[in-house]
Amino acid sequence: MDSVAHGRPRIVVLASGQGTNFQAIIDASESGRLCGEVVGLISDNPDATALRRAKGHGIPRVVVERKSYRSKREFDLGLAEAVKRFSPDLVVLAGFMRLLGKGFLDEFPEKVINIHPSLLPAFRGLDAQKQALEYGVRYTGCTVHFVDEGTDTGPIIGQRVVPVMPDDTEDTLRARILVEEHALMIECINAVLAGKIRRNGRKVIIYGG
Ligand code: GAR
Repeated sequence: MDSVAHGRPRIVVLASGQGTNFQAIIDASESGRLCGEVVGLISDNPDATALRRAKGHGIPRVVVERKSYRSKREFDLGLAEAVKRFSPDLVVLAGFMRLLGKGFLDEFPEKVINIHPSLLPAFRGLDAQKQALEYGVRYTGCTVHFVDEGTDTGPIIGQRVVPVMPDDTEDTLRARILVEEHALMIECINAVLAGKIRRNGRKVIIYGG
């Protein structure tokens, strides 16, 4: 990514649910640990807790519902318009539970990142924690990656490993992974916005971090 010309880099977050990753980003920004500011929160779910978190911190919020559009492509374009209005330097998917198509991604080349609760390429898609428990892995984790048109297939920026305990339930494993997600998210956002990232095909190299 080109380094950002001036001012604090502008981050737009897309979230569908609880928004604990979104909260981690807000907290890092407010405590000076993030080299960017959160300028907007967009959700596809009008009941998302993430929207309440945005309101509580005075962050502008927009709801873009899938049902307001006739097709997936129109939804992608409507979502892209909503995001563009914030002139973002970085678009962060933090528990945004919809696949983004070319119509969206073409508007923000190299600028969309996602967090996923597994060590990709294992356990892509929904219910990654359940998939890990059912497979019987001893270690799982979380991944931040650039977003492409596939499901959790884009180039990997960063990963953290989390052990699976013999008595884990989906809930206990989810909670243990989330702790690492929150830290990884901030590390990766900072690396991207500080221009520390170089890409060579699928390979992402982080300099000085
Ligand atoms: C997080 O575990 C995130 O990795 C996952 O949804 C959760 C959202 O939590 N995302 C995906 O599974 C996307 N494939 P949060 O709303 O508390 O940040």
